[in-house]
Amino acid sequence: MKNILVVGGGGREHAIIMKLAESKHVDKIFCAPGNGGISKYAECFNVSATDVDGIVALAKKIKPDMVVVAPDDPLVLGMVDALQAEGFMTFGPKANAAIIEGSKVFSKELMKKYNIPTAFYEVFTESDKAIDYLKKQNSYPAVIKADGLALGKGVIIAQNEEEAVQAVHDMIDDLKFGKSSARIVIEEYLTGPEVSVLSFTDGKTLVPMISSMDHKRALDGDKGLNTGGMGTVSPNPCYTEEIAKECMEKIFLPTMNAMNAEGRTFEGCLYFGLMITPNGPKVIEYNCRFGDPETQVVLPMLDADLYEIFEAIYNHELDKVDIKWHSGACACVVMASGGYPESYPKGIVMNGFDDRGQTADCFVYHAGTKLGENGEFLTNGGRVIGVTAKGCDLSEALNTAYKGVSRISFDGAHFRKDIGHKALEILS
Ligand code: AMP
Ligand code: GLY
Repeated sequence: MKNILVVGGGGREHAIIMKLAESKHVDKIFCAPGNGGISKYAECFNVSATDVDGIVALAKKIKPDMVVVAPDDPLVLGMVDALQAEGFMTFGPKANAAIIEGSKVFSKELMKKYNIPTAFYEVFTESDKAIDYLKKQNSYPAVIKADGLALGKGVIIAQNEEEAVQAVHDMIDDLKFGKSSARIVIEEYLTGPEVSVLSFTDGKTLVPMISSMDHKRALDGDKGLNTGGMGTVSPNPCYTEEIAKECMEKIFLPTMNAMNAEGRTFEGCLYFGLMITPNGPKVIEYNCRFGDPETQVVLPMLDADLYEIFEAIYNHELDKVDIKWHSGACACVVMASGGYPESYPKGIVMNGFDDRGQTADCFVYHAGTKLGENGEFLTNGGRVIGVTAKGCDLSEALNTAYKGVSRISFDGAHFRKDIGHKALEILS
């Protein structure tokens, strides 16, 4: 039996831990830093997910059989390389492959070189040249992206020249995202439904997971500010079998092969953020890790042993694992703190859970909770929990998830009431 250390502390990590806990090979699960809800399923250690030396030291102390590095920052910082150098079995790409998310300039150049469909773009390091280009193009909305990681906030869709010029100054001149925005990409605005497809790959084999749909805006009707994601459903009805085939041929396998050709073999979960444009599917972004909150609806649908998949990827034997998916659907509704995605209070008492932080018929994935002095659950982040349910179809999954939401309460809680509505319309 294996002991596993999972690095990270959000809803995605909770979903990975609950799936690993189902594995017949897994004994104990550790998590750093974890959160209140995760602590009911894994022994948590107070080491930050971005502290490479701290995580390596923790691993040496607790000697897990495998370390799963889930968030983007430690992957880009080379945590997997550091753990492998100490002889640990790991899940997640090395830094030279995580760059596919860590640098938008890298990923755009990769797609251009290997003819992988994506938006046209130009790269700039000087604001006057970027502004000249915007003026010459005179095409809005314009999409302006910081090169490096920016907590999911590094993409500006400028509706007019004024907004675009402001975004360029903020990023290049005022380094709004630090070094991450010293270089920017300006790209063509694409239209069409968005689909998230996560995949397992060991560099030889690539297995797409079941598709999903994120809901990024804070308010119903896709209004309000962009967030880390207010809910997800799986599968995504826009992702037909025909589109899946086209993506496999033109995007997924070419990306895996391109990374190999560059000497940057990607081992782990490669995430494709896609837009189904009138000219076919195109890549909006790559992530070098499981998506959040996509993972929360994808992993409950997995009809296979997640530990076996992780181990097979490490051993480059992914072709030997039979990966199947449950039928039906899964839905996740995020409950957020009052004020999120802007400032919000923390430490508010939550009600409605059982003693493991769960509620009937649902998986409650904790994203930002902690335990109070008397063991009560307190809010501790913007996105607090993702209430998730499976069903024989999407309506049933949504009904069960929203019933779960109605049993849980905390002051200021807000959540979208229309998660999955767009998907239901497409299905009807
Ligand atoms: P990202 O942080 O790269 O996922 O981008 C955030 C969101 O911006 C995406 O989910 C899209 O909705 C939107 N977006 C990014 N690039 C483009 C583009 N080229 N055209 C239209 N929308 C885009
Ligand atoms: N849900 C989008 C992401 O994980 O980046």
